[in-house]
Amino acid sequence: MKVGFYQFRPLFGKTIKNCKKILASLENVTADLIVLPELALSGYYFKNKAEALKHAEDPTNSELLDSIIEFANKKNMHLVLGFAEKRGEQCFNSAALIGPDGIKHTYRKAHLFYEEKFCFDPGDTPFIVNDVNGAKIGMMICFDWAFPEVARTLALQGAQIICQPANLVLSFCQQTMLARCIENKVFAITANRYGKDKRPHGDLHFTGKSQIVAPGGTLLHRAASQRDALYITEINPDDANNK
Ligand code: ACM
Repeated sequence: MKVGFYQFRPLFGKTIKNCKKILASLENVTADLIVLPELALSGYYFKNKAEALKHAEDPTNSELLDSIIEFANKKNMHLVLGFAEKRGEQCFNSAALIGPDGIKHTYRKAHLFYEEKFCFDPGDTPFIVNDVNGAKIGMMICFDWAFPEVARTLALQGAQIICQPANLVLSFCQQTMLARCIENKVFAITANRYGKDKRPHGDLHFTGKSQIVAPGGTLLHRAASQRDALYITEINPDDANNK
């Protein structure tokens, strides 16, 4: 199975531009599954929920999500995309598993990090796995790394590959995901962003270093910190079955 990540620097609030960049960067890619960062269309550092809602996508009526579904269909590819999800007056920090036939599952972030609590509603979706070309895929988002129950719950559901869109500002996650892969004997693909969101209420710097880890905790690849990185590799998801 060919899996990978695309690390880039979303521009705050420029949803159309960010979407175009993702699709252009993946145009020549052949893969089964590509993981993209958290809030990849909108950027991260909202000042409040009203602002998050302004830059959020309603999956039932979103030209941008539709264009990504169309791309997945054309390329016969699956993508895990972090995005701000608008549902009426609710706003979630979500990850969508997008396949050739549309959105297969949306996971809404359970563990909101710091000021995210002022911008997003707490996630209300279960940790479940979905099939992608015969492999069992689970999703978590960024700060979920700090709670070992998340990876364990996904592993108990049969997850072979955990996909983790991220906008990391702390330095602990990348190393911790090695432990999660040892504890649970799963693969993990972390797609982080880099650069900064410079806003009137402050600046946030993101750490890049997206990575793929194998079930024994082996680091298969880690990207550089502050540049675009598209990485694809071949893995055997069944390597996650031997606990
Ligand atoms: C984070 O959860 N985006 C740090």
